[in-house]
Amino acid sequence: MCVKIMFILGGTSARTIAEDISKELQQPLIKVTYKRFPDDEFYVRILDDIKGEDVLIVQTTYPDTKIVELLLMQDAVYEAGANEITVALPYFGYSRQDKKFEDGEPISARAIAEHISLHADYVITVDPHKEHLLDFFNVPAYSCSAVVEIAKYLKEKDVDFVLAPDKGAKKRAQQAAGIIGCESDYMEKTRIDGTTIKIKPKNLDAKNKNVAIIDDIISTGGTMAKSIRELKKQGAKKVSVACTHGLFVGGAKEKLLSAGCDEIISADTIEDEFSKVKTAPCIAEMFLKISQ
Ligand code: R5P
Repeated sequence: MCVKIMFILGGTSARTIAEDISKELQQPLIKVTYKRFPDDEFYVRILDDIKGEDVLIVQTTYPDTKIVELLLMQDAVYEAGANEITVALPYFGYSRQDKKFEDGEPISARAIAEHISLHADYVITVDPHKEHLLDFFNVPAYSCSAVVEIAKYLKEKDVDFVLAPDKGAKKRAQQAAGIIGCESDYMEKTRIDGTTIKIKPKNLDAKNKNVAIIDDIISTGGTMAKSIRELKKQGAKKVSVACTHGLFVGGAKEKLLSAGCDEIISADTIEDEFSKVKTAPCIAEMFLKISQ
């Protein structure tokens, strides 16, 4: 429980998380007006007096329009004379372009991070695609994880094997398996381009198992669909997929279901029909830690 009074501002892409954090910390939500001008430009106005107060702004930076909204919310809070501004990004969009893969490209994650840093004293994000993304912010940035809550959910569903679809997700799968009390393994994945991947078949101990495949992001669902097929081929009884950030673009839902997926589970960093796991507890916990 927070001792010092602070205010929470929930952006349009994270209203539920902001409400949940407000309940979790027992701190008020800022009254605010949002609207769009006839030409679709964004308008925000803070209605409470927040002069000298600490403020936690919560906004997922996906899709692109939500980045502009966040920058304007930060400016409004700054102009209203807030004291410390913490920005929580449940999902930090653009995090996968974290380096130049080809000459002439931007480092998109750094570009966005630098702009967010302009009116922020601290940043919190959930399960960043890679931990080094935190270094792109010009202010102290921290990460928290939805994996514990996802693992608790999977345990309730009697999952008895956790698989990472690639080596990058191996630690996440091991952590979830540790909480559930079961085995974990990973697949060998090679990405050809944004929509094409190759999964190398590997003998897994999945026969007759209730398997969960866990990753940070499900975007087009291509990675998960290939892994589901491989697991079903190897005799898995049930296969569910779980992620922190569910983008579900390009027919991902249909792709997953037609591959034989038994359940789709996502945390609520991008709200959709699969948001079954809450991230407010881990964001609130991290906020308390850094504000001590
Ligand atoms: C990549 O490294 C990420 O961890 C995910 O595996 C990837 O973003 C999933 O993309 P898709 O759903 O399009 O296969």
